[in-house]
Amino acid sequence: MAKISEHVINDVIQRTDLVDLISEKVALSKKGKSYFGLCPFHSEKTPSFSVEPDKKIYTCFSCGEKGNAITFKQKTENLSFVDAVEILADRANIQIDFTEFKQENPNQKYFDINDDAKGFYKLLLSNTVSGQNAIEYLTQRGITKEIIDYFELGLAPNEYELLYKTLTEKGYLVSDMVDLGLVKQGTNNFYDLFRERIIFPIQDERNRSVAFSGRVYKTEDTNAKYINSPQTVVFTKSNILYNLNKALNEIKKTKRIVLFEGYMDVIAAHRANIHDAVASMGTSLTKEQVRLMKRYTDDVTICYDGDSAGIEATSRALTLLQAEGIKVKIVLLPDGLDPDDYINKFSSESLQKFINEQWVSSIRFLYIKNKNDIDFTKMLDIEKFKKRVFDLIKNESRTTIEVFMKDISKDINISLESLRQDFQQYTRKNISTKISRTQSQVKVLSKFEKAEMMLINYFLSDVKYLNEFRVNADENIFLSREVWEMRILIEDLYDHNESIDEFETKLSESQLHFYHNSIKSKLVELSDNEFHDLLDTMQLYKELQKSKDSDALIEKALTIEDKIALAKERDKIIKEAKHGKR
Ligand code: GTP
Ligand code: MN
Repeated sequence: MAKISEHVINDVIQRTDLVDLISEKVALSKKGKSYFGLCPFHSEKTPSFSVEPDKKIYTCFSCGEKGNAITFKQKTENLSFVDAVEILADRANIQIDFTEFKQENPNQKYFDINDDAKGFYKLLLSNTVSGQNAIEYLTQRGITKEIIDYFELGLAPNEYELLYKTLTEKGYLVSDMVDLGLVKQGTNNFYDLFRERIIFPIQDERNRSVAFSGRVYKTEDTNAKYINSPQTVVFTKSNILYNLNKALNEIKKTKRIVLFEGYMDVIAAHRANIHDAVASMGTSLTKEQVRLMKRYTDDVTICYDGDSAGIEATSRALTLLQAEGIKVKIVLLPDGLDPDDYINKFSSESLQKFINEQWVSSIRFLYIKNKNDIDFTKMLDIEKFKKRVFDLIKNESRTTIEVFMKDISKDINISLESLRQDFQQYTRKNISTKISRTQSQVKVLSKFEKAEMMLINYFLSDVKYLNEFRVNADENIFLSREVWEMRILIEDLYDHNESIDEFETKLSESQLHFYHNSIKSKLVELSDNEFHDLLDTMQLYKELQKSKDSDALIEKALTIEDKIALAKERDKIIKEAKHGKR
């Protein structure tokens, strides 16, 4: 494979307006010759990310990320070097053919087969008698010819071998069709997976055909409503969002994604003129799907079905999205309706208006959800509800708190005055427990935190340390969730022979931050003795944790003598831990 010349690379960097490019993802403001904004590579509240248009570089003074137009494009959109250069060259009107620089994708044959299968299904829908029936079904659901073409809907006929034969005639190997799940192997024959179903082709965000879903369309058909392609080399359901490829252009304009549950919801949104719509395809939203969205926007509107299952799913999606720093709006369709039902009951214009204007904040959503399972005739329930809402709003602005005070007061029929008092009491109690907890922990923990970071260094440097840890140490001794998850990722790294680069791409933003600041920068000189000391230190930490449990025991002990004995034992452990004995 040929390499792109330095000259072309420099040309692309020089002719790209870096401020313009970065402004697509980061709001920049000018200070002197430089521009500043919030770093897109880690979470921060005050801007430490600077762009210098003269030098054609960006730098984050907080997390240390730096680079040029090409690295920016690559990192923010997860592109290969060649792809990033090609897109930027195109943007800067530099005409070069990049094909010779591109590695042939080993999965290309699969994308080709899927493309041909898609063509086959489309043809069957538009050109056959059974296609006519399927179109009638679609029409009756408000799906016009324009929508069929836009979403490239198709039809799998009620036959066992038509796709298999057609693809064979085109010269494809049956083993590849089986790999894709399009064709299944029986005892002495091959047969098509999708039969007598309306086909929804599924593409990844780079427009490659990765899978299909098929829906029954005859009322008497009692098979599963949808079947999907199985997991294949080119399709991992948890990594794909339906319609993201088509929605990308609109997402760039609206800087928002509307997230739905299913195919028909995305189609309903299209009918309502909402084109920044994607679907998680029925199953729970995954972390990978959230990361995928985050590449393009940090503003997501959830519009799941309005029934109780939809509300549960919304709540789970909300937690996941917020954990990745995404701002979430929630559309609660009334009366358990889904987007399609809503159009049928009202109109596509009112669906558009509802989604764009009637959304609620995440706090409002949680308030409503909390209210749903409260029996307002029971005192205990009312107290529970009050606490939940207090907890929800305690860090909000005064105005927000005031708004919710009024709502609670109305909902549980209690005077604003006494409610405010309750809230004050609640927050005071909360703050005091928080302070005492952090005060007692901070000093003691730092030593253990250092130890666990060092351990991660050992794991990354040599698999034998990881193995020894796994065999000999109790894996629950790790204190931070971050480090615990990193160990799992490191195990993956060894299990799948991944490179450090691949490993880095799997880290969450905060893990990456942690990794750069605390691990990568401190590559250790390995010593078995030190490793064992570190394990001991961590073991000690665990015992210290136990001493916290003994605090509770002391409290419960009946006689003064018992209390004293227990306290002595606890103090001994704490002393040992603090002085790092062993
Ligand atoms: P309609 O019922 O035709 O309006 O489709 P829908 O997309 O609204 O379906 P629904 O709300 O029931 O389900 C949401 C999504 O879950 C679907 O779009 C599918 O992605 C998925 N789903 C639903 N039923 C099944 C099923 O039986 N099997 C599989 N694999 N997925 C399903
Ligand atoms: Mn539906």
